[in-house]
Amino acid sequence: MSTPDGGHHGPPPGLHLYTRDGFVGQMCVAIRPHMIYEYRSVEGPHAPRRLNLAQVAAADRDDATALPTPIATNLNGVVLSVSRRTAEMPYAFRNVECDEVHFVQAGAFDYVTDFGVLRAGPGDFVAIGRTITYRVRPLGPDGLRVIAETPEVIGLAPPAPFGMVNQGRDLKRPAVAELPDGETELWLKSFDGVTRYVVPHNPLACTKIVDGVPPVWMLNLRSIAPLAYPTAGGPPAQFAQTPTADLLLYTLSARPPAMRPPQHHNADYDELIFYFEGPGAYGEMSEPGDMIWTPKGVTHWGPTEDVPEGYRAWLLETRGTMRLTEAALTAGGPMETGSFGPQRVD
Ligand SMILES: [Fe+2]
Repeated sequence: MSTPDGGHHGPPPGLHLYTRDGFVGQMCVAIRPHMIYEYRSVEGPHAPRRLNLAQVAAADRDDATALPTPIATNLNGVVLSVSRRTAEMPYAFRNVECDEVHFVQAGAFDYVTDFGVLRAGPGDFVAIGRTITYRVRPLGPDGLRVIAETPEVIGLAPPAPFGMVNQGRDLKRPAVAELPDGETELWLKSFDGVTRYVVPHNPLACTKIVDGVPPVWMLNLRSIAPLAYPTAGGPPAQFAQTPTADLLLYTLSARPPAMRPPQHHNADYDELIFYFEGPGAYGEMSEPGDMIWTPKGVTHWGPTEDVPEGYRAWLLETRGTMRLTEAALTAGGPMETGSFGPQRVD
């Protein structure tokens, strides 16, 4: 079947899908006489954008004391930030308001936490519960991470306890390690800023875990299986979420033989897609670190995910409406919503 972009197989032109609750609620499909995803101009804040995470002027690249640089916030207290940290954090850090999920786009890092040490590399999601103390040590100069903070608890939530995620094999927890002692600067981040303590010992030192499960976990994007429907297209499914489903995390990596999705109105979620690696492209996303934002209710026609060469990407859906910060707006530009390339002016 030919389509206006000449090459993608999928639904007939004009097909339009409206969904509630991400992809699991009420839905309605219409066929329209025209494709409706294009726009010629736009004014105002609720407009799709694209950028590359590496283009964000991250304050912690040259200043070891700086926190990650916010690139987006939503109405429910979610904050996304970019870190390009090159030196070890000179303080131990505790976020007293939010759970954090760190995605390693590039580089390797030791996460020294209250409950042991994790070594994270490209493609790793590292989830750190609220008030867990940690200190990050980059292992090289080219690190690039995106960090999501949510006032809710972020937890693994695949459709079944096995299948999408092999938890026994791929879910990593920190291991207790011997740490040097000494006076330590301890920063607590709350809604109104950072409070700095100086404590006499290393608060991260841990002798052993005697009960419970360390509330820090790590999972690599490459080991999360995309949900696929063998005979037709279908929506992705999340592998992690918050209890109110304000935040949903999906793999959006290539998945044959999914048909190109229809034009979409996501009634309840903004969609943020992060392209991690190729070799294949996802629409016009082909540079590692490419990120796109499609605000809720903005018509889009997602590129085909059936890319034989393969690519890996992830999707963050936020129920609270997102807004990009100045740091993100200046790092990128307007986006067209057919292949997620730069918006071209007629
Ligand atoms: Fe969508």
